[in-house]
Parts: sequence; structure tokens; C-alpha cells
Amino acid sequence: MNGPLLKVENLTKHYPLGSGIFKESIPVIRAVEDVSFCVEAGETLCIVGESGCGKSTVARLLMRLVEPTGGRVLIDGTDIAGLKKQALRDWRRRMQMVFQDPYSSLNPRLTAGQIITEPVENFERLSRKQRNALAADLLRKVGMGPEMMHRLPSELSGGQCQRLGIARALSLNPSLIIADEAVSALDVSVQAQILNLLLDLQQQMGIAFVFISHDLGVVEHIAHRVAVMYLGRIVELAPCDALFANPVHPYTEALIAAAPLPDPTRVRLEAPVEGEVPSPINPPKGCAFHPRCPLAIERCRIEMPPLVPILDGRVVACHVRAPAADVPCSELGRPVLRLLKQDDPVLRYEKRKHSDSKMGTRDR
Ligand SMILES: Nc1ncnc2c1ncn2[C@@H]1O[C@H](COP(=O)(O)OP(=O)(O)OP(=O)(O)O)[C@@H](O)[C@H]1O
Ligand code: SF4
Ligand SMILES: [Mg+2]
Repeated sequence: MNGPLLKVENLTKHYPLGSGIFKESIPVIRAVEDVSFCVEAGETLCIVGESGCGKSTVARLLMRLVEPTGGRVLIDGTDIAGLKKQALRDWRRRMQMVFQDPYSSLNPRLTAGQIITEPVENFERLSRKQRNALAADLLRKVGMGPEMMHRLPSELSGGQCQRLGIARALSLNPSLIIADEAVSALDVSVQAQILNLLLDLQQQMGIAFVFISHDLGVVEHIAHRVAVMYLGRIVELAPCDALFANPVHPYTEALIAAAPLPDPTRVRLEAPVEGEVPSPINPPKGCAFHPRCPLAIERCRIEMPPLVPILDGRVVACHVRAPAADVPCSELGRPVLRLLKQDDPVLRYEKRKHSDSKMGTRDR
């Protein structure tokens, strides 16, 4: 099949605040606005942004846990909104989710073996022998011994519980795993083990990840590409190395500036951005970032910047740093990045080799 594994087109989710006859007059929370991106087989796309910017809502929309207000999600070119019965079941096998809290995402009354074989048993009957063999195999894949299959979640550590969550997600041989803050609740050393595990599994099984995290250290470690969200919208989407080496959107720059630096030789960028994220009920006109942006010009207060593709394979929504091709801008804060055609089918990913792993050491 040609084309991306996952294609998200103009995805939008508004939560109405109350109900009534005149729907247009009801205020809404604009959780996700016009979000588009692609994910290729075997790719890791990370989504970053401050709390409340819509990351988890995107994950829920991808998993069809909530219905979109607008836009489409396509898997291998098929719109998941139109799937019925068998096609829906087949699709559910292909996309799995790993949650933030490893304890609360596991049924406390089931053993580890039952937890990880349960998704398969929803599709087919397994004999006790088959179930044990499958559980042992999945436990091995996530670096745990078969003796663990009889343990309850309360008898496991946080890292072991998250490994179980991953084993459960793997049980149906998914093409894509959506991981929402999957390592945030874990100690730093356990985080590294789980991240290495995910990278290993990606290399062995070609799984694609949509990995949501507020931790830029983690993101830099594992992402092929990064989508930066602000107030429900993608403001920059770029290859990971390019984004960290040369953030273009002022908000991306601010996020990186605010993140702790793991590498002491790296120079910190300008001061992190100040102020609070505005309300998603009544976002600022024009560029939603303008009240906090040190580069804002008059146009930013009036006109929303479009996502513009620039030369190094990224898209950026900023009147100053990535002005639309026909608008001259004399206030660029850094060297001009040459523009591509505005209607380019952006957000496509040039496949990196799987051997191009970002982890220097494997600490398991
Ligand atoms: N079910 C809901 N009903 C109403 N508003 C919601 C609902 N779910 C999310 N929201 C709102 O949508 C916005 C985006 O929320 P979301 O959980 O997607 O953010 P997030 O980026 O995942 O944040 P965090 O980093 O804190 O997890 C927030 O303003 C949130 O309050
Ligand atoms: S469009 Fe204007 S306000 Fe928005 S990020 Fe760019 S410079 Fe700042
Ligand atoms: Mg969230």
C-alpha cells in the first residue's frame, strides 16, 4: 500500500460548555483545531506542548474514543469514521494505546498473563497451553520472565506494570501504538529502560508510534519528527534533529529554552516565554501566541498565520519566522528560510533508516 500508515486531516474537536437550542451561541472549548499530519510505518512522531494544548485529545480522536467535530483520520487510506463491524475490529487490532499511569490502566484482579492475553482472547479462543505460550512470549518481548505471568499488578513495580501495558498493546501485533505520557509517571532510570524497549520493539517489529510527552529530553531521544502544539493547533512540525538544532517558531524556541539541558556543553537559547496559556474557550485573535510572543507584529494580532512549508522539511505557522511566500517581511528574527510552494503536500516523512537509532547505549 502506498501512502502513509496514518493520515490526519484537519482534525478538530470542540467541547460545548452546556446545551441549548441555539447551538451556535453556546461557548465551546477549542481543544483541537485543524490538526493535520502523517505517520509512516516504523516512524515515531512525537507531539509536544504545554498542558491543555490538546495532545491527549488528539490521542483520543485517533483511537476513536471521542468523535471529532471535524476532520478525518485515515489508516492506510481508509477513513476510520466509516468503518463498520468487521472492518472496525480489524482496525482496532492495528492501533493500540499505552497509557500514562501504569497501575490504573491494568485490571488489579487479573494476573499479568491474563492482562496481556486478554486482547487476543477478545478475538479468538485460546487453550490454556496457547495462552501460557503467548503470555511467556509477550513477557519475553518486554524483558520479563515467564514466572511473572502469575503475578497481580499490585505485586509489580511501576516499570514492570508499564512493561505489561506495552506487552498488552503488542499482543495484537499492532502497526501503530499511541503512547500518551507513557513514561511520565516512572523514575528517570526506568524511563530510559522503557524508552529503549520501545525503540528495540520498533526496530524488530516496524511499529509506528505517536508518542505524546511534555518532556523534551524524552522526545529528543526517540522522535523522528516532532509536532509542536499550542492552544489546539500545530505551530511547527519538523524532523527531530532540525527542530532541536534550529527551532523556528518562537513558541518552539521558548519550549526548548525552558527545558532542562541534559548536555552541559549545549548553550541555552533565549529566555523562556512568559505568561499563561490563554483560554481555549476564547483564544486570542490572529496568532494565538501573540500575547506572549516577543516577536509579535501588528499582523499577528489580526491574521492567523498559515502553516507554511520551509526548505528543511518542516512546516511553521509564523508571520515573522515563516511568512507566506507572497508577503515580504522585514522583521525576521533569524536568517530567512527559503519557502517551498504553499500548497505542497506537507507533513510527509522521509523515512529514516531504522538502524539510525537515537540511543547511544542500551541500559537493559
Ligand atoms: N471531555 C472534555 N470536556 C471538556 N473539555 C475537555 C475535555 N477533555 C479535554 N478538555 C479540554 O480540552 C483542552 C485540551 O485538553 P487535553 O487533555 O487534550 O490537553 P493535554 O495537552 O493533553 O494536556 P496535559 O499535558 O495536561 O495532559 C483542555 O482545555 C481541556 O480542559
Ligand atoms: S505569528 Fe507573530 S505572534 Fe505568532 S509566533 Fe509568529 S511572530 Fe509570534
Ligand atoms: Mg494529556
